[in-house]
Amino acid sequence: MNRPFQLLLLLIHFCVSIYARVWNDTGTGTIVLEEAWTIPELMGLISYVSFPSHSIMVLSCASPCIQGISDPATAGAMAVHVNNVLADRISNSTHRFGAFAALSMHNASEAAAELKRAVEELGFFGVLVNDYQQSGENNDTLIFYDQPEFDVFWQMVTDLDVPVYFHPRINVNPIETLLYGHAPWLIGPAQEFAATLSSHIIGLCTNGVFDRFPKLKIIVGHLGERIPSDFDRIDTQLLKQLPLGMPMLLNVTTYFHRNLYETTSGNFATSLLQFHKETLGLDRILYSIDYPFVEIPSGTVWVNGLDEVLTREELSFLKRGAAIKLLKLND
Ligand SMILES: *[C@@H]1O[C@H](CO)[C@@H](O)[C@H](O)[C@H]1NC(C)=O
Ligand SMILES: *[C@@H]1O[C@H](CO)[C@@H](O)[C@H](O)[C@H]1NC(C)=O
Ligand SMILES: *[C@@H]1O[C@H](CO)[C@@H](O)[C@H](O)[C@H]1NC(C)=O
Ligand SMILES: *[C@@H]1O[C@H](CO)[C@@H](O)[C@H](O)[C@H]1NC(C)=O
Ligand SMILES: *[C@@H]1O[C@H](CO)[C@@H](O)[C@H](O)[C@H]1NC(C)=O
Repeated sequence: MNRPFQLLLLLIHFCVSIYARVWNDTGTGTIVLEEAWTIPELMGLISYVSFPSHSIMVLSCASPCIQGISDPATAGAMAVHVNNVLADRISNSTHRFGAFAALSMHNASEAAAELKRAVEELGFFGVLVNDYQQSGENNDTLIFYDQPEFDVFWQMVTDLDVPVYFHPRINVNPIETLLYGHAPWLIGPAQEFAATLSSHIIGLCTNGVFDRFPKLKIIVGHLGERIPSDFDRIDTQLLKQLPLGMPMLLNVTTYFHRNLYETTSGNFATSLLQFHKETLGLDRILYSIDYPFVEIPSGTVWVNGLDEVLTREELSFLKRGAAIKLLKLND
């Protein structure tokens, strides 16, 4: 899981090019929001041939990327470097590749400034954070973005009107050992990712981030990291926290319908998609794969088979329409 990022650290040569986004809406193909551009296939000569069925791939830095760097100065410098390299890599192919910025989240105003640069100067579509920012000499401080200090960041996200993708990360060492020492197989996508990231998302809800910033657009992969299946239980139980001072004004279900989007990345379960369609609605769901953690053909085969359960219009919206709207490709 760390390999893509380590490869990135070996990169020393780049030149920044500021570019305009070019989008050729052919009416077909899929748009996917993927994670890891720091793998040789995508890092070197980005080959269109490898992704024939995709109109656009939105690339970003593999987990944990900058969120795995505890030192604030190193993290800040590396985020700028990562964004510059990625901008350069896709500068000749912005009709096929877009990017989400990597950010150091140690300091909310510095994160806001780098996001502004990435969006306005590099043409990025938004940002991808790999869950919490680790910090501290012993990696023993975890920074979550649901505290008032982060309002300056959320204000910038709102002003730029770009989405923020919350991608999972491996936990820092002490947590990994305490929680999963008994059954290390739970580390990663089978259990740990959804468990950790869903807490961060519900943290944003319960700490009132969406009340203070009602226009935020947050993307969660893997069909919402399991939250939508538990909407009723989460909301019912959270009502009991109101007397204890929980600041949330609405409820998690409502924020999901208003502020959250989910992708199908790494979760190609047709019956579950149908449940999500009923519970959340197709206007909040975007097709994605999870490359390179999931192979592209498994996504392609699955999504094309959905013509048995979705209408033509619904399928087209899932594969591209929802992303065109969210990323404002045609605006
Ligand atoms: C845009 O799409 C059309 C139709 O597929 C194609 O003929 C044209 O070459 C494309 N332009 C670019 C710049 O890719
Ligand atoms: C982009 O195209 C220019 C001109 O053809 C070329 O010099 C440059 O190396 C290309 N950049 C990348 C990253 O492929
Ligand atoms: C965050 O960065 C800004 C600008 O560099 C600085 O003024 C501020 O003191 C920093 N905040 C913290 C908590 O370190
Ligand atoms: C902190 O985390 C980094 C990478 O995430 C690791 O390389 C380093 O060894 C860790 N430091 C401690 C003291 O555990
Ligand atoms: C959540 O809020 C919506 C309206 O905002 C309401 O209709 C719904 O009943 C609430 N859900 C629960 C479980 O309280």
